[in-house]
Amino acid sequence: MTTISHIHARQILDSRGNPTIEVDVTLDDGTFGRSAVPSGASTGTHEALELRDGDKTRYHGKDVTKAIANVNGPILDALKGKPISDQRTIDQLMLDLDGTPNKASLGANAILGVSMAVCRARAGVEHKPLWQSLADQFDVSTPTLLPMPMMNVINGGQHADSGLSFQECMIIPTGVATFSEAIRAGSEVFHCLKTLLKDAGYTVSVGDEGGFAPQVKNAEEAFDFLMKSIDVAGYTGKMQIGIDAAASEFYKDGSYDVDGKPMSSSELTDYYVSLCDKYPLISIEDSHSEDDWDGFSDLTARLGGTHQLVGDDLLVTNVERIQKAIDAKTVNSVLIKLNQIGTVSETVDAIKLTQDSGWTAVVSHRSGETEDTFIAHLAVGLRTGQIKTGSLSRTDRVCKYNQLLRIEEQLGSKAEFSSPF
Ligand code: PGA
Ligand code: ZN
Repeated sequence: MTTISHIHARQILDSRGNPTIEVDVTLDDGTFGRSAVPSGASTGTHEALELRDGDKTRYHGKDVTKAIANVNGPILDALKGKPISDQRTIDQLMLDLDGTPNKASLGANAILGVSMAVCRARAGVEHKPLWQSLADQFDVSTPTLLPMPMMNVINGGQHADSGLSFQECMIIPTGVATFSEAIRAGSEVFHCLKTLLKDAGYTVSVGDEGGFAPQVKNAEEAFDFLMKSIDVAGYTGKMQIGIDAAASEFYKDGSYDVDGKPMSSSELTDYYVSLCDKYPLISIEDSHSEDDWDGFSDLTARLGGTHQLVGDDLLVTNVERIQKAIDAKTVNSVLIKLNQIGTVSETVDAIKLTQDSGWTAVVSHRSGETEDTFIAHLAVGLRTGQIKTGSLSRTDRVCKYNQLLRIEEQLGSKAEFSSPF
C-alpha cells in the first residue's frame, strides 16, 4: 500500500502578489503531488481560518511562514508513513491534530494544501487524471459532465476600483451545445465588451478576476453593456447573466449602500426582483449580507422557483450552515470554495449534501488565485455542473477553463454539457 514518505511546504505568490502556500507530497514509491492554496478578498466571517504571520515588516503582515512550519513540522510528523488510499482518513488525522472548529491552530491554508496535494499524488499512483481519481475516491459513477462556466467580465466591489457595488457581473452561455463553444462565446463577448467600453470612453484595464472595471454609475449600466456585447457578438437569446453581489461588503449598520443609494433589506430584495424583470438575470449570489438570513429567505420565497440564488459568505462551504439553509429554504444553491472549509473531504461533503437536497453546487475560485487547476478537476469529478472562475483573461483565471478544455477532449464522445437553468 502506497504511503506518504515526505511533505514539504513553501511560500509562493498568488495572483495579487501576496504570499500563499504550496505543498509537495512525495510517496514511498516516488510519486509526487503538488497543490497551491488560493485566498479571498471578500472573505466571509464564518470561513475557516487562513493563518498569516501578521508581522507588518514582512509582506505587510501576509507572510504564511507559520502555516508552512505547521506543514513541515506537526503535519508531516502525523502523516509520514500513512497510506493514502482513503482521503477522509488523511483529512481526519489533520482535523484531530488541529483540534479547533475553524482550523485556527494549524491554519486552513496549511491543511488544505496538504489535502489537495495528497489527492494529486493519489491520482499519480492510480495513473488517472485527477478528475477521475476524485470521482473514484468519492464514489461518483459518471464524471462526464463539463460545468457551465459563469464568466465574470465586469468586476466591482472588493475586486476592482470601478465603484460598482456588485462584485461580479457574469455571462452564462446557456444556449450553446458544448463546453468549448461556451468558452468561445465567452471570449467573443468579452472582446465585444472591450470595444463597446472603449468606444464609450471607459478604461479597459481589468480587475482581480480578469473582468473589466469601468466606472459605470450603477448595475443597470453594467448590465446594458453586457446585453449589448452579447447582441453584437451574435449570442442574443443564448446567453444569460449572473451576479455575485457580495452584499456583506456594502452592508453597514442595518443598511445596504447600492451604488450610492441606501436600501433596507426588503428594498434590496425589491431591487433584485426589478432587475430580474428587466434583464435575463438568472443567478444571484450573496444577495444579502452573510447574517441577514431573513433577507435571503424573502428573496428565495419570491424568486426561488425560477432563479438560482447562491449562498457564498452565507454558507462558507460548511455542512452545518448548508443544512440550516436547506431546512429554512434560505437559498437554493451553494457556492463551493475549498479554502472556506479547508479539506477536500469536507468540501465533497458540502457538495454531496447540496446535491442530495436537489440544490445546485457551483465550484468557485478565489479572487487571489494560483496556477493550480484543482477546481476544474473537482467540478468534473463531482459532477457539479457549474463553475465560476473569472473572466477570459489573466492566466490565473483561464488556466482553469483551459484545463476543462483538456478534460472535454479526454472525455471525447462521453463529454456531457447542458444548461442547469
Ligand atoms: P473572494 O471573491 O475570493 O474575494 O471571496 C469570490 C467570491 O466572493 O465569490
Ligand atoms: Zn461570492
